[in-house]
Amino acid sequence: PFVVTENCIKCKHTDCVEVCPVDCFHEGPNFLVIDPDECIDCTLCEPECPVNAIYPEDDVPAGQEGFVALNAELARSWPVLTVRKDPPADAAEWDGKPDKLKLLER
Ligand code: SF4
Ligand code: F3S
Repeated sequence: PFVVTENCIKCKHTDCVEVCPVDCFHEGPNFLVIDPDECIDCTLCEPECPVNAIYPEDDVPAGQEGFVALNAELARSWPVLTVRKDPPADAAEWDGKPDKLKLLER
């Protein structure tokens, strides 16, 4: 499956959800995750993310391997999102900032 990684935190553009044919994105307060049991590896979402936060499971950036399990875990409790919404007003400021994992809200 594909995985949402750290750079989505506090950016949350949600362009990704509109293209997913199987509606497998789940939304939390400041991050989205992909349900690995639903993702069909279609690849459509990967280029849609303006901050390049989406990767194939076996190609997540070094140091972000924990996001594979985190997507699976959070997808179980967060609701599905299928329609794009406005990103946070300060999304651009957070693009590329390091150590955003500690800012993840559940
Ligand atoms: Fe959805 Fe395809 Fe992205 Fe998987 S790869 S999350 S099926 S758009
Ligand atoms: Fe996050 Fe990118 Fe989607 S910032 S919400 S993975 S478009």
